[in-house]
Amino acid sequence: MYTQAAKIIKSSKRCVAFTGAGISVESGIPPFRGENGLWNKYDPQTFDIQYFYSHTKQSWEVIREIFYDLFGKVRPNAAHYGLAELEANNMLSSVITQNVDNLHKDAGSKIVHEFHGSLKNLICLNCRAKYEILEIDLNVLPPVCKKCDGILKPDVIFFGEAIPEPAKTNSFNETRKADCFILIGTTGTVAPANTIPSAAKSNGAKIIEINPYVSEYTRSVTDVFLEEKASIAMEKLMEEIDKL
Ligand code: APR
Repeated sequence: MYTQAAKIIKSSKRCVAFTGAGISVESGIPPFRGENGLWNKYDPQTFDIQYFYSHTKQSWEVIREIFYDLFGKVRPNAAHYGLAELEANNMLSSVITQNVDNLHKDAGSKIVHEFHGSLKNLICLNCRAKYEILEIDLNVLPPVCKKCDGILKPDVIFFGEAIPEPAKTNSFNETRKADCFILIGTTGTVAPANTIPSAAKSNGAKIIEINPYVSEYTRSVTDVFLEEKASIAMEKLMEEIDKL
């Protein structure tokens, strides 16, 4: 299976990676669903945009606990580094990620389409001014804009919000051009992100999936299923690619 996956990657003209929360689990960030899933512990409605507007302080308190208490304190794992190495060796053209943890960029990936935005930035709901999280003190919630005192929101996509541009257009363009697609650590639960692997498949891409468990994709779009944790599978895959 690993040799087959390595041959697909090595012979592809344009390989794209599509990642979900599972790739960051071994970095210490819990997934949303399944074992230790965040949505087993927290109500997803906290992450609904209407709730954020109507219960801003409560929503911010949960967001800080779920995301910012870890953000910047965890490191990429071998799976993130493996994708960055494939890109550096011209075997991967980009990463499309649903994750907002910035770990692909921390690992050195240059072209990362952040389909759900990034926790790294905050945006003012009033004047749209942008701040890096390092500029903002989260001891006082909700954080406010230094220019207009407006409420700041993490620059990530809440349930009920539209996917940001240019990430959306770039992601679907990449998907159209890919002849190899590496799916890592996603249940395929949330639209429209979850339509991307099927779109790649219908465009003729070979689909390699890395996940320790079966996902929505395994029986429907996956060509080579590497049933393993991301960091272990990626290390094995890199070894096989080096042998070719
Ligand atoms: N290595 C690889 N995959 C793993 C690992 C691991 N070590 N551990 C768990 N997984 C897999 C799980 O089997 C599951 O398929 O990662 C996936 C995690 O699924 P979700 O938590 O649903 O994450 P994701 O698919 O990225 O969720 C999509 O839902 O809540 C929204 O906006 C949020 O972007 C997120 C979206």
